[in-house]
Amino acid sequence: MSSGPRIYVGRIVHPKSLKQLEILPQAALGVRENGKIAFLERQLPDPPALKTMYAAEGFVDAMTIYLKPSEFLFPGMIDTHLHAPQWPNLALGMEGELRDWVENYTDPMEASYSDNDKARRVYSDVVSTTLKLGSTTVAYNTTHHVEATNILAKTAFDKGQRAIVGKMSITQGSTHGNWEDSIEESLAASERDLEFMKALDPERRLVHPCVQPRGGPYCPPELMAGLGEQREKYDAYVQGHMCETQSDIDRTLALHTPHTSYTAMYKSHNLLTPKSIMAHCIHLQPTDISNLLSTGAGVAHNPNSNTCLRDGICRVRDLLSAGIKVGLGTDCSAGYMPSIHSAMRSASNVSRNLAMQTGEERYILGFSELVFLATLGGAEVLDMRDRIGSFEEGKEFDALVVDVEGVISVEEGMWGEGSGRDEDLVKKWVFLGDDRTIRKVFVRGRLVGGHDVDG
Ligand code: GUN
Ligand code: FE
Repeated sequence: MSSGPRIYVGRIVHPKSLKQLEILPQAALGVRENGKIAFLERQLPDPPALKTMYAAEGFVDAMTIYLKPSEFLFPGMIDTHLHAPQWPNLALGMEGELRDWVENYTDPMEASYSDNDKARRVYSDVVSTTLKLGSTTVAYNTTHHVEATNILAKTAFDKGQRAIVGKMSITQGSTHGNWEDSIEESLAASERDLEFMKALDPERRLVHPCVQPRGGPYCPPELMAGLGEQREKYDAYVQGHMCETQSDIDRTLALHTPHTSYTAMYKSHNLLTPKSIMAHCIHLQPTDISNLLSTGAGVAHNPNSNTCLRDGICRVRDLLSAGIKVGLGTDCSAGYMPSIHSAMRSASNVSRNLAMQTGEERYILGFSELVFLATLGGAEVLDMRDRIGSFEEGKEFDALVVDVEGVISVEEGMWGEGSGRDEDLVKKWVFLGDDRTIRKVFVRGRLVGGHDVDG
């Protein structure tokens, strides 16, 4: 494991903004021993002179790693919404729509996490696999079981993944015993969970606490209010479902009178903040858009899941144009693919379907936008734009070493410098690459996964 100061030399790819993807054919990136990025030198003057050049930065003895022509550095990908306990259900249940699917697949599976051994087995596989697929940060949805949720947090922490974790809150509206017995017990359990997270990683280097109202139909007003108080007390994230289907909205508004919108309900309980992750946001009213914007809450867009459950199509362009933060989520197991690499492709297809359906080309998400959503957009949703999502001085080195050799066939001469071919390479990787191309995965500068590590 290389953890000393080091300099990467070669092709570096990262987003600068929604519309601007920066592809640097010959750059140098310095990583300090503490995992922070010391510098990004966009144009390499003279490779042999590197050591002298960076002496002033304290990089005299740094190891220099020369990337191959088939390799590039890419920011670690960010999954803003994945249900860890649903992992064994991946690829199952696609015949049902949301409510049938939740009742027939999700509720019985989630209820089974009273078994800590099962949690240990499943969560170990979830964290190892998502790391290998390039997700350096994941916002995990869980179940209401405190111990199982603590196991997930500890697993992510030990394996070196950045994670947002909290127990799910749910006292009604579900089946198969997948609920908590009272609001008091639910809030007491949530408090125990938040205390565990605080003790596990007091400085929040990797693991961040979260309150998780499952969604409007599952948490009565008193429970939402209690979670809002805990969020404030612990400066915790909020992760919940929102406006996924019309029935989701109808059930929410029936339980939460007199509110007339989903966001008004969450907002009234202090649950919409810049650290709130709202999954789906498909069927929004204008008031929802303004509430998301004014509170700084972000949206997890889950194109694969929304297609599998036939929830509808999230109008990502309208959210982005309004200035709302958007990232990508896999939403496993409603989505069957646990990779954000694949979520970029789903987001592209879904946006193109929306353009066909509406006749409005503006709905198409362009290439730089897909990369942004998978990286810096996710970082914004998680309120971590100053920490992760791109390679800038002072940020933490969450990164992938991608190598397309042996996976994507490219002719000799494909790697011409300064031409459009560098961009072609990245496009081919986004649309044709698989996890074999993800050779090394770093979080905070530490090597934590990838094919070179896991085989
Ligand atoms: N609404 C309530 N629970 C769930 C879930 O597990 N997945 C999705 N997509 N929506 C939900
Ligand atoms: Fe979900």
